[in-house]
Amino acid sequence: MRRIIPLDRGWEFTEAFGEGFADGSGEYRTVSLPHTVKETPYNYFDEGEYQMISGYRRRLRLPEGCGDKKVFLRIGAAAHYAEIFLDGVKLGEHKGGYTAFSVDLSGRLSEDKDSLLCVKVDSREQLNIPPFGYIIDYMTYGGLYRDAWLDIREKSYIEDVFAIPVIPENVSTDGMSPDALSYLTFTGKVKSRLKLVNAGSLKLRQSICEYGKDTPTVRETFIAADSCELTVPDVRLWDVESPALYTLVTELTDGDNVVDRVETRIGFRRSEFRADGYRLNGRRLKIRGLNRHQSYPYVGYAMPRSIQRYDADILKNELGLNAVRTSHYPQSRDFIDRCDELGLLVFTEIPGWQHIGDQAWKDIAVVNTREMVTQYRNHPSVILWGVRINESQDDDAFYTRTNKVARKFDPTRPTGGVRYIKNSHLLEDVYTYNDFSHDGKAPGCEPKKATTPDMSKPFLITEYNGHMFPTKSYDNEEIVAEHALRHARVIDAVAGEDDICGSFGWCFFDYNTHRDFGSGDRICYHGVCDMFRNPKLAASVYSSQQDEVPVLEISSSMDIGEHPASVRGKIWAFTNADSLKLYKNGVFIREYTRADSPFKNLSHPPIEINDFVGERLAEGEDFTKRQARYTKDILNESAINGMNGLSAKTKLKAAWLTVRHGMKYEDAYALYGKYIANWGDTAAVFRFEAIKDGEVVKVVEKSPFTERRMEVAVSHTELIEGDTYDAAAIRIRLTDEKGNILNRFNGAVKANIEGPAELIGPCDIPINGGMGGTYVKTTGRSGKAILTIEAERIEKQTIIFTVKEAQDAR
Ligand code: GAL
Repeated sequence: MRRIIPLDRGWEFTEAFGEGFADGSGEYRTVSLPHTVKETPYNYFDEGEYQMISGYRRRLRLPEGCGDKKVFLRIGAAAHYAEIFLDGVKLGEHKGGYTAFSVDLSGRLSEDKDSLLCVKVDSREQLNIPPFGYIIDYMTYGGLYRDAWLDIREKSYIEDVFAIPVIPENVSTDGMSPDALSYLTFTGKVKSRLKLVNAGSLKLRQSICEYGKDTPTVRETFIAADSCELTVPDVRLWDVESPALYTLVTELTDGDNVVDRVETRIGFRRSEFRADGYRLNGRRLKIRGLNRHQSYPYVGYAMPRSIQRYDADILKNELGLNAVRTSHYPQSRDFIDRCDELGLLVFTEIPGWQHIGDQAWKDIAVVNTREMVTQYRNHPSVILWGVRINESQDDDAFYTRTNKVARKFDPTRPTGGVRYIKNSHLLEDVYTYNDFSHDGKAPGCEPKKATTPDMSKPFLITEYNGHMFPTKSYDNEEIVAEHALRHARVIDAVAGEDDICGSFGWCFFDYNTHRDFGSGDRICYHGVCDMFRNPKLAASVYSSQQDEVPVLEISSSMDIGEHPASVRGKIWAFTNADSLKLYKNGVFIREYTRADSPFKNLSHPPIEINDFVGERLAEGEDFTKRQARYTKDILNESAINGMNGLSAKTKLKAAWLTVRHGMKYEDAYALYGKYIANWGDTAAVFRFEAIKDGEVVKVVEKSPFTERRMEVAVSHTELIEGDTYDAAAIRIRLTDEKGNILNRFNGAVKANIEGPAELIGPCDIPINGGMGGTYVKTTGRSGKAILTIEAERIEKQTIIFTVKEAQDAR
C-alpha cells in the first residue's frame, strides 16, 4: 500500500544559496512549509525583496521495509524555478511557480542513513518563465509556499485516476427550489481514465461512498485496464445550492491483498456554457464571482490550509457569490477543495499576465496547461480552463497548442482564455472577456454582440471595475459609494443580458503589487475587501444578493460635514430585505422597496434614500398640503444637490411658494437647518430598518459617535498542529456603540500573544478606515494561546486559542 509522509517540517533555509548548501554546509535557519523567502511589510516595499536564489534542505530517510518501493518527492509549488538535489546530485527541476511537480527518488534513499534533499529556488523575475518578461500587476512571491511530501508506492501502483462523473440526460433542476434539488436522486455513472503502472494480472476494484462516510454504496471489480465505468444508484447532485460529494475508491488488488488505493473526491453535476447563457444541472444560473489572488499581507503566498479555505468561505458565505476566478494562475488545492465543499464554481487559468515570451517560454506555458488540467480535473467546482495568458494578444499557433493540451487531458470541460481585445481569434470554447467599459457613465457592460466574433459561442465577462475606480476603505463617502455603485451597475447590466453567462469582478481584496501599478505604496486598492478581507461598502453589493443572511448597509455616516459644502449627496442602501423603513429621531419618514430602485435587473438592487422629511412638514408646520409637498421636495433635493443645485422643476416650485405663500430663501434655509441639517438641535438619529416577511431583520442606526468599540472576527480558535503549523485570521473593526465602522480611524492597535502561537506581521496592527487584521500561527507546541488586542479608549479584547496536535496526520 502507498504511504504518504508529510515533509512540511524540519527544513533548513538560506536566503543566499551557495555551492556548499546542497552538500550540507552554509548558514541556515529552520523553517516549515508553507514558507515565503521573505516576509514583507504591509505596504511600501520593493518587489526586489523577494527576488533571490534561495535554498531549502532537509534530511530524508526511508521508513523501514521500503527499500524496494517506488519513492516520489512531491512539491506543491516552488516559486518560480526549482532544482532538486539529493546528496549534492541534481535529480530534477521545475519551471513555473504555480503547479505541483514530482521527482522520482526510487532507489536513492536509504533506511539506515539520512540523505540530504536540497531544493534550490530561484524567485527572480528575470527568469524566462511565465508570468515573467514584462510588467505584472501583482507580486510574485518566492519560496516553497505550498506543501511537500514523500509518496511511497509498491512496484505496481495507480499513477492517476481521472474520474468523470456523468448524470443522465433527463436529470434537470430547472424550476426546482434549492431544497428540492438537494433531495433529487438518480443513477449516475463514473467513467474513469486510469494510469496503472506494472498492473500485470492484478485486478482493479472501485467503490463509491458519500464523502465523509465509509460504507460504500457500490463496489465492482474490473480487469486492470486504462478505463472502467461504475454505475452508482441514488446519487445526489453537486450544485451551488447543495454540493453533494462522493469518495471514489480505486484499488489495485492481488486476491485479498490491496496493492494500491486511491481516493478521489468527486461530484455529479452538469455544467454547460451555452450561447444563450450558463446552465448548472439544467438550470439557468448567472455566474456571479470575483477574481482572487492567492496573496496575504506579510507572507505573500505562504498560508496554510485553513487560511486558504477561509477565503472560499468568505466568498461564498459572506459575499454570497457562486463563483471565483483564480487570477492569474492555478491556486492552492486547499482553496479549491473548499470550493468543492461549498459549491463555489471555479474558473482557473494558466500563469501569465499580458506578456507572451519566446518559444522556450511558450513551451513552459504548454506544460503549465497540462499540469493545471491534470492536477485539478477531478474537482467538481472547476468548470472552465483558462488556456490563454491573461490579456495577451492573439497567437494562434501558441493557443492552438494550449487548447489542444487542455482538451486532450480533459475532454469534459470547455476552454476559455481571458482577453481584453474585442473580436480576437476564438480558438477556445467560451469567449472570456475583460469588460472595462463601465466608467461610471457608460452602461454596466457591453452587449455580447459588440465583443465576440462568434455569437454561437458562449460569452463570459471575466473582469470589470478594478483600475477603473481604485478605492480605499478610508476614502471619502462619495468615492466609497461610487465604488459600490459601479459594481452594482455592472452586475445589474449583466443580469439583464441573457446571453452573457455571468461575470467576475476585479477583485476580491486589495493586493500588494509592482511599482507600475497601485497607489504608489505597492498596494492595488481594487478589492471589494481590504487586504485582510474586511468588506468595503462594495462588498455589500454582492452580499446583499443572497437570501440566507440579512444584509443592510448604508453608504453614509449621515454626517454632513464629510461632504463638500456640507451637502450629503446621494445616499444608498444595500439590502436583501423586502423593504426598508427610515426613521429620524423616532419619527417614521418613509418605506422603500425594490420598486424604488433605479436598478431593474437585480433581485436585491441598491435603493436610493432620497426622503429625509416624510410627512413631518405637513404635521409640524402650519402649511397647506401642496406647500408642505413642495417644501419637502426642495429640502430633499437640497440635501442631495445643495440649495444651489436645484433642478428647474424644483426652482419653479420655489417660485410658486414665494408667490403663493410669501416664502423666502431665509425660510427655506431655516427649514433646511431644522429638517435636514439638525444644527444645534437634539442630535439626529437615523434608524434604518430592514423588513423581511413583515419582520425587522436588521437595523442600522446612525447617530453622532460617542464611544469607541472593537469587533474582532476570528476564522477559528481551535488550531491544529498537523503535518505543519496552523494559522488563524483575525479581522478587526473599530466601531461606534451602534456597530458603525469608524472609517476615519487610521492608526494602530496593539496585539500581544502568549502561549504556543505567534503573530504573523507586526504587533502594532495597522488600522485603515477603521479596519485591519492580523494572523496568528502555531509554533509546534500544543496548549492555550492568548491573544490580546488593545487600543486607547477601547476595551481590550482577549481571544483564546486552543492548539491541539492532530491525532492522525495524513
Ligand atoms: C486587468 C488585469 C488584472 C488587473 C486589473 C486591474 O487588466 O487582468 O490583473 O490588473 O486589470 O483592473
